[in-house]
Amino acid sequence: MRLARSETEARHAKSKLPRSPRKKTIPRLRYDTSIVSNISVHTAGGTYVVRVEPDQLQNLSRHLRKTGLAKGKIFVVTTPEVWALWHKRFLASFPKGDDAPRVLFLPSGERYKRLASVEKLADELVQASARRDSLLVAFGGGVVGDLAGFLAAIYMRGIPCVQVPTTYLAQIDSSVGGKTGVNLRTGKNLIGSFHQPVTVLTDPTLLATLPERELRAGIIESIKAAVLGDAPFFTWLEKNADAMRRGDVASLTYAIRVSVRIKARIVSADERESGQRMLLNLGHTIGHAIEAATQYRVLRHGEAIAWGMIAAVRLAAARSALTQRDAERIERLIHRFGPLPRFSATAQHLLDLTDADKKNRSRTRNFILPVKIGKAIVVTNVTAEEMLVAIRSLLQTVREMGA
Ligand SMILES: NC(=O)c1ccc[n+]([C@@H]2O[C@H](COP(=O)([O-])OP(=O)(O)OC[C@H]3O[C@@H](n4cnc5c(N)ncnc54)[C@H](O)[C@@H]3O)[C@@H](O)[C@H]2O)c1
Ligand SMILES: [Zn+2]
Repeated sequence: MRLARSETEARHAKSKLPRSPRKKTIPRLRYDTSIVSNISVHTAGGTYVVRVEPDQLQNLSRHLRKTGLAKGKIFVVTTPEVWALWHKRFLASFPKGDDAPRVLFLPSGERYKRLASVEKLADELVQASARRDSLLVAFGGGVVGDLAGFLAAIYMRGIPCVQVPTTYLAQIDSSVGGKTGVNLRTGKNLIGSFHQPVTVLTDPTLLATLPERELRAGIIESIKAAVLGDAPFFTWLEKNADAMRRGDVASLTYAIRVSVRIKARIVSADERESGQRMLLNLGHTIGHAIEAATQYRVLRHGEAIAWGMIAAVRLAAARSALTQRDAERIERLIHRFGPLPRFSATAQHLLDLTDADKKNRSRTRNFILPVKIGKAIVVTNVTAEEMLVAIRSLLQTVREMGA
């Protein structure tokens, strides 16, 4: 198994630490040995563990039993595509026949992340005799995770939910933190609730079947996590970008663990986004505007955030909050996960859309400003003019180098 490589390597690196004071060179660790497979998330509702471990899907039943909440029936919400690819491994550890988990399908795609789907699945749960002691397993990308999490939050006023995320984005982001919900015609994620999972079981080997573009787009959120909170991880990503792009399981596993640890720290400090959690929106003010301006059709979320981060980095560099060198390193790393698709929009339209960003508190404009690699802050004094300059500069780059 590839993970063994990273652990062995880490141990190996340790064993090479100088034994005598004469040997002064301490080897630079490629991997941070404090990174472990189980990452705890602390919330008002209690603590849960995100377990990031390759090949754990085939032992799912054992891991679910460990939660102590799998005594009743188990229901799985997934998409037909993910189920077709992975059902054998998913079911490998469960009993067959009547005691096997019951599978409910949500069609793939953001357009099904709607209340109508929640109602349909809730009816199916009733018909299949799901009760309050039933356990819901969300097995899919962020769409499945958000919708099934929300279904669990409101079905019979709440049943436990386990997240088994299958996209990179879901593994590092949407499965952690308890935000669940659906879209309205008028906007994304406008109906929802906080419902923390009882545990998150993340198997990076699931990413083997993920389309390459989905993987690259997801990794952008790892770059975001590194920029806002972990400089050594940023350097690690620079060194391991090629292995990540290739889908090397050991590298992906490491990056997922570090990214989850960053998100877990922030969520644990601020479950409901009053302060620190806002930092996770780095690149999202302009990124969301780009998604909206292109009707969510042209770019994957991570790609829009990549462009949004580039704009944020330029804005920060323009006010000398960030050095030119750091700005260039960030842009360079983002482009290593390209090509980023082009899009067309006017600067004024994008600016107008950032004003509509629901994360803006009344009239002050919150903006997440990267101040160095590994640190971002929330500021409220970014002017419309500064935004316009950064957006125009971004649009120029899109014209010049977008794929
Ligand atoms: N709750 C949160 O905190 C949070 C955070 C970020 C994003 N989100 C939400 O996440 C959603 C996006 O999630 P996503 O990017 O995972 O998209 P997604 O769920 O639509 O999945 C992307 C595509 O990959 C396919 N897929 C999933 N796993 C696969 C696998 N292992 N192999 C092959 N194909 C696979 C899916 O069928 C789908 O076509 C958005 O709705 C967004 O709002 C939520
Ligand atoms: Zn995002």
